[in-house]
Amino acid sequence: MNPIRSYPIIGAVLAQLAAGVVVFALSAMLAGRLDAVGLFWGGLIVQSGVAAAVTKLLGLPVWWVWISLCFPGALMLALNAGDLPAWPFGIGFVVLYLVFSNTARERVPLYLTNRLTTGALLSLMQQRGANRFVDLGSGLGGVVRALDGEGRQARGVESAPMVWFVSFVLSKIERRGQILRQDIWSADISDDDIVYAFLSPEPMPQLYEKVRREMKPGSLLVSNSFAVPGVDATEIWELADRRKTRLYLYEMNQLDSASDEAASGEAG
Ligand SMILES: C[S@@+](CC[C@H](N)C(=O)[O-])C[C@H]1O[C@@H](n2cnc3c(N)ncnc32)[C@H](O)[C@@H]1O
Repeated sequence: MNPIRSYPIIGAVLAQLAAGVVVFALSAMLAGRLDAVGLFWGGLIVQSGVAAAVTKLLGLPVWWVWISLCFPGALMLALNAGDLPAWPFGIGFVVLYLVFSNTARERVPLYLTNRLTTGALLSLMQQRGANRFVDLGSGLGGVVRALDGEGRQARGVESAPMVWFVSFVLSKIERRGQILRQDIWSADISDDDIVYAFLSPEPMPQLYEKVRREMKPGSLLVSNSFAVPGVDATEIWELADRRKTRLYLYEMNQLDSASDEAASGEAG
């Protein structure tokens, strides 16, 4: 197990420490040649740039690179903020919690499926003649609204309060799709032809257990970017977008469901 992959905060701290060493060495070399203002701004820029570069070299996801880049500046702002009132920070914290509550709880952040991938999902539904689609963790509901209609029923399941609210309102305004405020783990997926998930590596084993138990034979789990560890995908689609999105397709087969039913019968 790679501790930096499992606990990216360790990598982010190491990146800031490494950048601090570089800044310290450069400041010692340039002392006397730059004034205090030059040293301050130069130090801040080098600290941010080196920390971001080290974070990238450590292979952390792109949002950690942004965090490493912005952290030194944000820290300086906070330290020099003077007597600012505390309430905007309180409100900011509550808003962030309402949007990103699943990041801490489920280790699933909010990022959105792009248009090309949504198009690929639409053609997948058309190819298979599928008409029931669910997006587990539907974010702002873009995929659900794009796929609903012309005989297809698409719904989304989302538990982050603010994200759910925005997607619920958009879906009502556009009259496309259904957005439920629900946890992925309690969603009923037994009637769906395609279950779509764009989550993170963390919940994939548990998600696969759920779909194997609950989805009907012949239906499909499609995972954007994250494969189920130890399970061969039925198909992998690599798309021609900038991030070379991979869609992992897992078809539920008769044997899986039959053996699960037999196992639950024996247990009962
Ligand atoms: C990476 S985003 C994907 C959004 C959307 N599916 C898309 O592709 O555009 C993952 C979403 O899953 C939601 N999520 C994570 N864990 C969840 C859970 N246990 N129940 C419901 N939603 C969850 C997060 O709040 C986030 O909005």
